[in-house]
Formats: sequence, structure tokens, C-alpha cells
Amino acid sequence: MAQRCSFAVPYGAPILAISFLACVATDVELSVNNHTADFTLSTQPGPAVSLSCLVHNSSQAEELLWYRGDGQVGLKDGNKVNISNICISPVNESDNGVTFTCKLARDKSVQVSVILDVQFPPWLSGEETLHVEEEKDATLTCNSKSNPQAQSTWFKDNHSLTLQPSRHELFQTSEVFRLSIRKVQKSDSGTYTCVVESPLGNGTRDFHLVVEDKKPVFPTEAVIAAVVVVSITILFGIVARKDKFFKCFKKQKETAL
Ligand SMILES: *[C@@H]1O[C@H](CO)[C@@H](O)[C@H](O)[C@H]1NC(C)=O
Ligand SMILES: *[C@@H]1O[C@H](CO)[C@@H](O)[C@H](O)[C@H]1NC(C)=O
Ligand SMILES: *[C@@H]1O[C@H](CO)[C@@H](O)[C@H](O)[C@H]1NC(C)=O
Ligand SMILES: *[C@@H]1O[C@H](CO)[C@@H](O)[C@H](O)[C@H]1NC(C)=O
Ligand SMILES: *[C@@H]1O[C@H](CO)[C@@H](O)[C@H](O)[C@H]1NC(C)=O
Ligand SMILES: *[C@@H]1O[C@H](CO)[C@@H](O)[C@H](O)[C@H]1NC(C)=O
Repeated sequence: MAQRCSFAVPYGAPILAISFLACVATDVELSVNNHTADFTLSTQPGPAVSLSCLVHNSSQAEELLWYRGDGQVGLKDGNKVNISNICISPVNESDNGVTFTCKLARDKSVQVSVILDVQFPPWLSGEETLHVEEEKDATLTCNSKSNPQAQSTWFKDNHSLTLQPSRHELFQTSEVFRLSIRKVQKSDSGTYTCVVESPLGNGTRDFHLVVEDKKPVFPTEAVIAAVVVVSITILFGIVARKDKFFKCFKKQKETAL
């Protein structure tokens, strides 16, 4: 394997000698789809991808192992010795960036890895309708998945959005494109379109912002005052009646006696 025989090993003659010996001892080499070193395989969702791992220069039967990431792939008998094929079918977006590694069972340091580069056009999602009260803040979140990385922009009512630094704020990661609007006004209502452009195609998604009337401020002090007044009234009412109840009871007792 190229890495093992490499002279890019950090200085030190002993290490060089050992790696040279190791190289001679395990003369065995692997190739995956004719690549003897790690490589990236670009593909698209849909069609199956087959990976073929071959043993070279071995004097004995060699068992092979396949890994998807850290997990070992179960192989059928007859697909383990000297040659092993795996098939990823169908390839989908979630396979992007996944590493498949073929290893020699006898010496796992003899290996070749393939990184899948699954390319797909933008794929957008996110809450489409937002109702926000006037003067409150609004956040429009456009979740976007694409490979390769895409260029994102916001439009408002079919016109490119003029950002006002004091009120608008953009936040962007590889998977999120977010627009925050501080203290929304009635004029902020409308259709905001998240447009994501990639060489493989463009994605758009409409977000409807509805700015609603400010709810009347709850008059806390007036409510407290009213509660106090009502409580006192009830209290006096009870005190006044208590007298009557007493009198009544006394009367009853008198009659009973
Ligand atoms: C590997 O290379 C050989 C000849 O160089 C070719 O016939 C074969 O199709 C290649 N295999 C793959 C998987 O690319
Ligand atoms: C096999 O080994 C020979 C000599 O040891 C070397 O020249 C050749 O490149 C090797 N082939 C492969 C495919 O590793
Ligand atoms: C694997 O390769 C070795 C060495 O070339 C050979 O002796 C052995 O018979 C092969 N085994 C299978 C199952 O192909
Ligand atoms: C991709 O395929 C795997 C299984 O092969 C499945 O679990 C997963 O949901 C798929 N993802 C998408 C985005 O289709
Ligand atoms: C934006 O343009 C499309 C087509 O060009 C049209 O159907 C849509 O009504 C327009 N939206 C607004 C908010 O003007
Ligand atoms: C994506 O949008 C850009 C700019 O609007 C345009 O030039 C390009 O042709 C579009 N690409 C596709 C595949 O529709």
C-alpha cells in the first residue's frame, strides 16, 4: 500500500527501516475500482454505485473487509476472498461525505478508502407562513441542502430585498439561510422568497410574513386596582351578612329552647 511504503514518514532511520521492512513483508496491495490510494467518487442520487476491492501481489488467499464509516459491512461468502464487491443502491443525498473502506482482514492497516461526493441540486424546507405582531421580531428560516455549496439570496415580492442594516440581519451556514427582521412594521408583510442557486439547478421557497395589529397592552395596574376594589366590596358584604347570620342563628336557638 502506497502509504506504508511512502518515504514521507517522519525522519528517523529506524522508522524508515521498519516501514520498508513492513512494506516488503506485506507486499500485498489493495485497489478499489482501480485506485490503489484513497479517492473521492463523485456521483448523483439515484443510480447504484458499485465498489470493487481487489487484492494484488498476494501469495495466499486474503480475506477482505468492508466498512461504511466505522461500521463493518456484512459480506456474503464468496464475496470475501481476494475480491469483494459492494453496491450502494440507490445512492441518496444522505450518502454524501460517507467513507467506504476496504481492508485486509489479516492487516487492517492495508486499506483503501472511497469518499462519496453525492452532488444534488438545492432542496429547501422551512415554515412557510409566519404571523408576527407589529413591533415584534420576525425570523424566516430557509433550510437548504445542496452539494456543491450554493449561493443564497432573499427576494421580497419578486424584487431583490434591500437590506437595512439596522433592521435586517442575515445568518448563514451550509444548511441554513436565515433572515431576521427587527421590530416588524406593516410594510414588512409580504412574500419572501429564498433563492438558492447551484450549478446543478436553482431552488426557491416562498415564505409568507403576515404582520398583525399590535395587541392592546394589558393594563396591569387598572386590573390590580379593580381586583382590590372588588375584594374589599365582597369582604364588606360578608362582614355585613355575618351579623345577619348570627342573629338568625341566635333566633333559631331561642325558638328551639
Ligand atoms: C480497471 O482498469 C481496467 C483496465 O485498466 C479496466 O478494464 C476496468 O474496467 C477498470 N475497472 C474499473 C472498476 O474502473
Ligand atoms: C507487485 O509486486 C511487484 C514486485 O514486488 C511490483 O513491481 C508490482 O508493482 C506489484 N504490483 C502491484 C499491483 O502491487
Ligand atoms: C486468492 O489468491 C491466492 C493468491 O493468488 C490464490 O492462491 C487463491 O487460490 C485465491 N483464492 C480465491 C478464492 O480466489
Ligand atoms: C437514504 O437511504 C437510506 C437507506 O438506504 C434511508 O434510510 C434514508 O432515509 C434515505 N435518505 C433520503 C434523504 O432519502
Ligand atoms: C411573482 O411573480 C410570479 C411569476 O412571475 C407571480 O406568479 C407572483 O404572483 C408574483 N408574486 C408577487 C408577490 O408579486
Ligand atoms: C439559476 O438562476 C440563475 C440566475 O437567476 C440563472 O442564470 C440560471 O440559469 C438558473 N439555473 C437553472 C438551472 O435554472
